[in-house]
Amino acid sequence: MNTISPVIDLREICKAYQMGEITVSALTSVSLLIRRGEMVAIMGASGSGKSTLLNLLGTLDRPTSGRYFLDGEPTETKNEFELSQLRNRKIGFVFQSFNLLLRDTAQENVELPMIYAGLSAKERQQKARNALHRVGLSDRMDHLPNQLSGGQQQRVSIARAIVNQPALLLADEPTGALDSATTGQVMELFSELHQQGMTVVVVTHDANIAKYAERVVRFKDGVVLSDEKAAHAHSALHAAH
Ligand SMILES: Nc1ncnc2c1ncn2[C@@H]1O[C@H](COP(=O)(O)OP(=O)(O)OP(=O)(O)O)[C@@H](O)[C@H]1O
Ligand SMILES: [Mg+2]
Repeated sequence: MNTISPVIDLREICKAYQMGEITVSALTSVSLLIRRGEMVAIMGASGSGKSTLLNLLGTLDRPTSGRYFLDGEPTETKNEFELSQLRNRKIGFVFQSFNLLLRDTAQENVELPMIYAGLSAKERQQKARNALHRVGLSDRMDHLPNQLSGGQQQRVSIARAIVNQPALLLADEPTGALDSATTGQVMELFSELHQQGMTVVVVTHDANIAKYAERVVRFKDGVVLSDEKAAHAHSALHAAH
C-alpha cells in the first residue's frame, strides 16, 4: 500500500460512448483527488455520469482520454490481465443488486475473491468467516442468498468486498433495493468501515445517505458541479442516534 499518494487521482478524464453516428459524452474533463480514509458520496441526477465514473474508478472501463492513478499506480499502461489483478488486490465492489451467486452459501460467496487471489482453502475459510463476523453475520454463514433478507444479502456482498482488505470500497446505489430501516444498518456498516480506515466512495440519489459521508461531490451532465466537505458528518450522525 502506498501511504503518500491519494487512493484516487483522476486527471481531466473524459468518457464518450459512440452510438453509431452519435457520440454521447458521459464525462467531460473530470479531475478528482480522493485521499486515503475519506468517505465520499457521489450525487447527481439520473444520467449525470455517476455509474460511468464508478466503472472507471473500478477499472471496469477505460476513459476516452485523461489519466487515472489508482493508489499511486498509473492504470492506462496496464493490459486487461494486469488491471484485473490490480482490481482484485485494491478494490471491493458493492452493487445495488448484491450480485451474489445464488447456489453458494454466504461463506462461499465471500470466499470467491480469494479463490481468484489464489489463497489456500483453509485461509479462505478463516478470512471469509472473519469478514462475515465483521458485518454481523456470524450466525448466517451457511445460508443461501434466498434464505437471507435483503439487508443480510447486502451485508454478505460487503463482506465479500472487504475480504481482501482493499484500499478502496466502491458502492453504486448500495441501498437502492432496501427499505429505510435496512438502509440505515447498511450505511452504519459503511460508516464503521470508514472509521476503521477504509476509503469509501458511494453513489447515491438519496441525500439522507449522503449524510454518512464527509464529502459530497455532485455531478451534472458529466461535469463536477460541486465538491463540498460536509461539516461534522459523524458528530451530526451520532447526535441523531
Ligand atoms: N454503454 C453506454 N453506451 C452509451 N451511452 C451510455 C452508456 N452508458 C451510459 N451512457 C450514457 O452516459 C450518460 C451517463 O450515464 P450513467 O449511467 O453514468 O448515469 P448515472 O448518473 O449513473 O444515472 P442513474 O442515476 O440513472 O444511474 C447517460 O446519458 C447515459 O445515457
Ligand atoms: Mg447509475
